[in-house]
Amino acid sequence: MRAVVCDRLGDPSVLKIEQRPVPAVGPSDVLVEVGAASVNFPDVLMLTASYQHKPELPFTPGMEGAGTISTVGAEVTNWRPGDRVIFGVRPGAFADYVRLPADGNLMRLPSSWSMAEGAGFRVGATTAYHSLVHRAALKPREVLLVHGAAGGVGLAAVQLGKHLGAQVIATGGDDERLAVVRRLGADLVINYRRDDFVPIVKGLTDGRGADVVYDPVGGEVLEKSVRAAAYGARLLVVGFTSGGPTRIMSNRVLIKGLSVLGVRAGETARRQGSALARDYAVELPRLAELGVMRPHISHRFPMDRAADAFRVLIERKVVGKAVIEMT
Ligand SMILES: NC(=O)c1ccc[n+]([C@@H]2O[C@H](COP(=O)([O-])OP(=O)(O)OC[C@H]3O[C@@H](n4cnc5c(N)ncnc54)[C@H](OP(=O)(O)O)[C@@H]3O)[C@@H](O)[C@H]2O)c1
Repeated sequence: MRAVVCDRLGDPSVLKIEQRPVPAVGPSDVLVEVGAASVNFPDVLMLTASYQHKPELPFTPGMEGAGTISTVGAEVTNWRPGDRVIFGVRPGAFADYVRLPADGNLMRLPSSWSMAEGAGFRVGATTAYHSLVHRAALKPREVLLVHGAAGGVGLAAVQLGKHLGAQVIATGGDDERLAVVRRLGADLVINYRRDDFVPIVKGLTDGRGADVVYDPVGGEVLEKSVRAAAYGARLLVVGFTSGGPTRIMSNRVLIKGLSVLGVRAGETARRQGSALARDYAVELPRLAELGVMRPHISHRFPMDRAADAFRVLIERKVVGKAVIEMT
């Protein structure tokens, strides 16, 4: 089979395609023939060992994908060959086949979804769901401010926020990409490269501010979010695409009675008995069937152009997801 391989750290030009044996299937495993896999920001960080999870070299990148089960192990009763699935892996999705535990990160692909859509669901949906439902307990009619809203985890939060009945204000750095975010559900979009979002959010909320802030960007965006937040607001720290960790003024956190909530969707899902692990099996497949958080795919590449799929993410061109299609 073909696999995208990273055998030295660097920019996306280090990626190459190699032939690898199709993985052998153990008794409790399934083998998935991958239809498509999507690129996430952590994939970019893993190429330079800048992510918290540092796979040993050489490794095949890719945290999520969709495909068709081709083989099931002797003890597997819940899946059959031919089942179309969405899967998560740590990492290894950018290959023709992936072996996974049958009771692991697998869910059924909704029948009306393409492989590309399925490939872009899992990371964004689990992150948005864990953030808004478990961590922030977002309520209908609350004001949700989503930063980096054209990105994978940002757009999923816009879509889920609308589904949960919130008023969604979305920020991003490009008008054209924000127009898509608006079309996909945001009530208002703000270009934070041009406009200061603080007075706009304040103006829209009669001076009160946002009830929940969802921030995958960090840096100045998070610093300013403290000012755009309402008294008693919840600030979700999701990521740092702007560069690195951010200092927040603790006096402002105190004075505004803010709750600063760290989000670790993947780690929480791996913890046995966590609410996210339960909801991953039941609630996320239900939402997917309803079409909630159906991914928007702005870029598609064949496997031999995997590096370009990384580049469009780095260059901030993606709306929703960029995917690599295997067939
Ligand atoms: N906490 C968790 O459980 C969890 C789970 C998954 C991902 N994450 C984190 O969430 C963040 C977003 O991941 P993603 O896969 O959604 O990424 P993505 O699709 O690339 O979206 C990130 C967004 O960040 C914005 N951005 C601002 N400054 C940027 C910069 N200097 N370089 C690149 N993008 C910049 C971009 O929007 P504009 O161009 O419009 O500004 C872009 O749309 C990452 O930090 C990732 O590690 C966290």
